[in-house]
Amino acid sequence: MKNITMIAAIGKNNELGKDNQLIWPIKEDLKFFKEQTINKPIVMGINTFNSLPGILPQRKHFVLTSRNLDLAKEVVICHSIEDILKQTEEFEEVMIIGGASIYRQFLDYANKLVLTEIAAEEKEADAYFPDFNHDEWNCEILSNNIENNIHYKHVIYTRKKIQK
Ligand SMILES: NC(=O)c1ccc[n+]([C@@H]2O[C@H](COP(=O)([O-])OP(=O)(O)OC[C@H]3O[C@@H](n4cnc5c(N)ncnc54)[C@H](OP(=O)(O)O)[C@@H]3O)[C@@H](O)[C@H]2O)c1
Repeated sequence: MKNITMIAAIGKNNELGKDNQLIWPIKEDLKFFKEQTINKPIVMGINTFNSLPGILPQRKHFVLTSRNLDLAKEVVICHSIEDILKQTEEFEEVMIIGGASIYRQFLDYANKLVLTEIAAEEKEADAYFPDFNHDEWNCEILSNNIENNIHYKHVIYTRKKIQK
């Protein structure tokens, strides 16, 4: 089975976005996102795709929508989770890059979470990462960082194996 990794930057209350944009602009975190996703397939919902400045180089895009849209030629349009799983079968690792509705639907399939945990809150947020049971995951803190007075850490969660 392929490895499914979800990558997200979240606030203290799992805040992801507001008005279809990111909340905290952290340049170094965008670099981290690039390092983590480069040369891998990326899966996203159409809202997240529309929020991007353009096609992200060196990454194959799989975009979920129920509509028949005419998107850039680099994009593979998918109409269901099953469709995504089938279309990405050949890849060793698939990166789920959001947004909220996509993280919710892929949480049960994911075996790794790469989270930027930001020590800040945004009451006006309108998109949230799903709650997950931390007991089911091993946790490794990669780094503690600060940019423009925003403290954040990079944390990797790996799903624990079920003991038989
Ligand atoms: N902080 C972060 O790391 C991060 C990362 C990514 C996104 N975000 C934020 O998250 C927010 C966007 O999240 P969102 O939940 O509104 O949008 P989204 O998940 O990006 O896209 C939702 C859309 O995807 C389509 N879709 C979802 N599930 C589907 C399925 N099973 N089959 C077919 N189509 C499906 C639907 O499009 P149709 O209506 O066309 O059918 C749905 O309206 C923004 O604020 C963005 O900035 C944050």
